[in-house]
Amino acid sequence: TLRAEAADALVAMFDAARSEAGLTLQSQSAYRSYTTQQSIFTDRLAREGRERTELFSARPGHSEHQTGLAVDIGLPSGECSFNACFGETSAGIWLAENAHRFGFLLRYPDGLQPIVGFGYEPWHFRYIGPELAAEMHEQGIATLEEFFGLPAAPDYVD
Ligand code: DAL
Ligand code: ZN
Repeated sequence: TLRAEAADALVAMFDAARSEAGLTLQSQSAYRSYTTQQSIFTDRLAREGRERTELFSARPGHSEHQTGLAVDIGLPSGECSFNACFGETSAGIWLAENAHRFGFLLRYPDGLQPIVGFGYEPWHFRYIGPELAAEMHEQGIATLEEFFGLPAAPDYVD
């Protein structure tokens, strides 16, 4: 489930991945309610502890998934799903290079945790629309924080 405009763009991107690169891609998590994000966050906290949880999960009320604009993409095989190694797969590489054409942004790039507030998530894409995606791509700006002059996420609570 995604907002209609983002869902249409995702279908177009998945069609292009198949026709241009022979890749079959899958949405593995899209819209989440507050309560879903809350259970993801608290389950992770119990399993993995605070440091890792805060690095890879937004607190309930703060996830892009709650907007209906963010999607976690993977392979039907589950290879490297929700894992940094997804960025090394042909799917992860194709997405990183082509998502902007469809209005998507790789939201949490490698090494930019001090800016975006979260660790590397090569599977997490946010729909920002084709105009903004093209502008950021042309200017070589990777993050919304840099483009809009926003603060990093670690200080978003308390
Ligand atoms: N994994 C991202 C940061 C989220 O929980 O929204
Ligand atoms: Zn995500």
